[in-house]
Amino acid sequence: MQKSIQNYLAFFRQFRQKFETTGAVAPSSRFLATAMTRYLAARDPETPVRVLEIGPGTGPVTDSIVNLLRPGDRFDLVELNDEFVEILEQRFQKETSWSAVRQQSTIHRLPIQAFQATEPYDFVISGLPLNNFPADLVKTITDAYFRLLKPGGTLSYFEYMYVRPVRKKVTHGAELQRITTIDSILSDHCRAMRIHRDSVWINIPPAWVQHLRKP
Ligand SMILES: C[S@@+](CC[C@H](N)C(=O)[O-])C[C@H]1O[C@@H](n2cnc3c(N)ncnc32)[C@H](O)[C@@H]1O
Repeated sequence: MQKSIQNYLAFFRQFRQKFETTGAVAPSSRFLATAMTRYLAARDPETPVRVLEIGPGTGPVTDSIVNLLRPGDRFDLVELNDEFVEILEQRFQKETSWSAVRQQSTIHRLPIQAFQATEPYDFVISGLPLNNFPADLVKTITDAYFRLLKPGGTLSYFEYMYVRPVRKKVTHGAELQRITTIDSILSDHCRAMRIHRDSVWINIPPAWVQHLRKP
């Protein structure tokens, strides 16, 4: 309990110091984490899988992932924030379900756009706050998602509800152009590849989880 309060406070500090990349006031709820991992939970338990988590922060979604991993699976985490990387490393050392999968897990301290994988992944699970980024960075990152995914693999990412529709109504000029371009990039992907959308109301703020399958 005390640990999770510390993680909340660490997250809030990063929200204040690095708003653009942290992108939220609080870590995701366990309801959002469960939705983010619904396809990993449904995988064939006999076949080893490769899982990539992007932007794990203090690890609420990671916590759900580590509980679903099996021997033979591979788990990579890509996080650019030094303070979050330290928290994740501590959790892999100290928490039972995390330390059980430590040997098959690697934290990569770098931005996803600079990450090179040796092999593609069955599951890419991303918590990146794409609505905060410049549109060309969103294009680079979403290209990376699909480059890193195997054909038939699943991408799951969350976004806070109604952020783009509301921003499109209340902004002008360059900001309107930015949010419209991001909306068009993400909507095109969803139209072509979405298999499911979850609505998670118990989260700060409520969120949609988009699940896409690479053809
Ligand atoms: C909205 S927080 C989500 C954190 C966590 N997954 C959760 O659900 O609470 C976004 C996270 O993405 C990380 N991040 C932002 N840009 C990134 C990038 N380009 N590459 C890797 N991580 C990034 C931030 O440092 C932060 O940990």
